Amino acid sequence: MGDEKLFEIYAKEQWMGNTISVGDYLFDQRIIPDFAFKVIKVIPRGEVTITEDTRIRLKGDERREIKGIRYTFSDIVGHSEVKKKCKIIIKYLRNPNTFGEWAPKNVLFYGPPGTGKTMTAKALATETDSSLYLIRATDLIGEYVGDGAKKIHELFKKASSTAPSVIFLDELDAIGLDRSYQVIRGDVSEVVNALLTELEGLHENKGVVTIAATNNPAILDYALRSRFEEEMEFKLPNPKERLEILRKYSKKLPLKLEADIREYVGKTEGFSGRDLKEKLLKAALHRAILEDSNVITQKHLEDAFKAVPPKSSPPKEMFT
Ligand SMILES: Nc1ncnc2c1ncn2[C@@H]1O[C@H](COP(=O)(O)OP(=O)(O)OP(=O)(O)O)[C@@H](O)[C@H]1O
Ligand SMILES: [Mg+2]
Repeated sequence: MGDEKLFEIYAKEQWMGNTISVGDYLFDQRIIPDFAFKVIKVIPRGEVTITEDTRIRLKGDERREIKGIRYTFSDIVGHSEVKKKCKIIIKYLRNPNTFGEWAPKNVLFYGPPGTGKTMTAKALATETDSSLYLIRATDLIGEYVGDGAKKIHELFKKASSTAPSVIFLDELDAIGLDRSYQVIRGDVSEVVNALLTELEGLHENKGVVTIAATNNPAILDYALRSRFEEEMEFKLPNPKERLEILRKYSKKLPLKLEADIREYVGKTEGFSGRDLKEKLLKAALHRAILEDSNVITQKHLEDAFKAVPPKSSPPKEMFT
C-alpha cells in the first residue's frame, strides 16, 4: 500500500464529516499533536464535506514549516523563569550569525502534561518568525534499520535549510528511556544515536534550536539528557496563575460566563492550564450549549467541576 493510500485512510478517520474549503486547516490529533494540514484545493469548488468517497491527496512535504495557531509569550501565564531563559534563544534565532560556537542549541522542557511546553515552543517560533517542526519522538522510529537515522538526518537538514528553525521533539522519553527502564530495541537505540549525533552538532545546523519535551526527565537515558545544555521546568500553576488562566480563557468563550470564576481558584489545586481550559471551562460551555442556554451559569461550571475525574498523576518526586 502506498503512502498516499495510507494517508487517505488516516485522514478520513480523523476528518470524515468535516466541511472544508480552501485555506482551512485540518488539525492532526494523532501523529503530531497540534500539527495542521492546510486545504489548498477542493473539487468541486467551494465547500466540500469529507465523506467515504472523498479522495484526499497530500501535496508537498508532510513536515514542512507550519504556522498553525500562533501563540506569543504574552499568551503564556506564569513561567517567568522559563521566559527569562528563553530570551537567549530568541536572540540567537533572530540573529544566528553572531553566536558562532556559543550558540544555544539544545534545551529540554519538562513538567506535567498541559503546563504549556508545546505552547511555549510555538511562541518561541512565532516571536522569532522561525520555522517550527513539531515531531513526536516515536515518529522517528523507522520500519527498517537505518530509516530512523535517515529521518533524523533529513529533519535537521530540512530545518537547517529553512533556518531560523525550532525543532520541537515531543515525548522524548518514548525513545530516550534510561536502559534500566527498558531493554532498548535495536531500532530505538539507532534513533537515539542518530539524535545524539545531531544534538552534538557534528553538522553545523546554524540557526536551528532543538527543544525536546518530556513529562519525566528522571527516566531519560543519561547520555541523552546530558546533551541538553539547559533544562527548563514547567510547573503546575499556582493560585494566582490559575486565576489568570481562568480569566484569560473565560474572555475567549463564545458564551457569556455569568459565574464567579474566583470560586474555582482554591478548588483547582493540581489542575494544569489545559485542565482549567478543557475540563472546566470547555466542559461548562458544552453543558450550556446542550441546554440551549445563552450564558454559562455557575451551575454549568459547578457540574463540569464535579465531573472532573480525580487526578492519577505520578508522585511529585518523579519530576526532578
Ligand atoms: N501557562 C499557561 N498559560 C496559558 N495557557 C496555558 C498554560 N498552560 C497550558 N495552557 C493551555 O493549555 C493548552 C495545553 O498546553 P500545552 O499543549 O502547551 O501543554 P504541554 O505542556 O505541551 O502538555 P503535554 O506534556 O501533554 O504535551 C495550551 O494550548 C493552552 O491553551
Ligand atoms: Mg505538549
